[in-house]
Amino acid sequence: MTKACKLAAGNWKMNGLRADLDEAHALVSGLGQVSCGVLLCPPATLISAMAEAVAGSAVMVGGQDCAARVSGAHTGDISAQMLADSGARYVILGHSERRADHGESSALVAQKARAAHQAGLVAIICLGETEAERDGGQTLAVVLEQLAGSVPEGATSANTVIAYEPVWAIGTGRTPTLAQIAEVHDALRANLPDAAISLLYGGSVKPANAAEIFAIDNVDGALVGGASLKASDFSAIIAALDVT
Ligand code: 13P
Repeated sequence: MTKACKLAAGNWKMNGLRADLDEAHALVSGLGQVSCGVLLCPPATLISAMAEAVAGSAVMVGGQDCAARVSGAHTGDISAQMLADSGARYVILGHSERRADHGESSALVAQKARAAHQAGLVAIICLGETEAERDGGQTLAVVLEQLAGSVPEGATSANTVIAYEPVWAIGTGRTPTLAQIAEVHDALRANLPDAAISLLYGGSVKPANAAEIFAIDNVDGALVGGASLKASDFSAIIAALDVT
């Protein structure tokens, strides 16, 4: 069985102006030889400038969403091909903030992932239970349903990454126990269309907890929000992943 690739991915969410590209420069200049993938996903307005800022380094750039459609009269939407044309190689899809703020269903996420694949982008498909779902003992049922509904046919380790992000752990400083993360990642691995697809954990990953999370079987990296905004914090997380 091919082993899944390790990936440290940063999601800047709706943060970042041109001046914040300094953090991307700092990340690049502090990054030695790395064997894991390193990815920054800034807002769409910064993709092309960030791609220039990290050109020639190991840092890759991604988007945070794309349209399900290819082109046409869809004001305000950005197609997968446009992201690729701006220098993106990845796109985050189905983040819980988009599922909540924009009512995105798993079916729509699957359509977007298909569009991403057609444009040559790797889709990072996000899944995760709410606190009420966890308290109700529904975690595995919820994430496996999201997995089945959000991952399109044709998904392989070459074009798809899955990120498990418990909604209640995002931006809260709270994380599941290591056993809870392991339980979900084991269940996801057993249900992937291609067992070599990378499985990221996301939700309050910091330099202080990264190493213990990366030591869990079936955790192949992290999708990092707040701690990816500062090169010093994100570098420490990358270093923790690179030694595992
Ligand atoms: P935080 O790392 O800020 O909790 O955000 C996680 C996340 O949502 C990444 O997509």
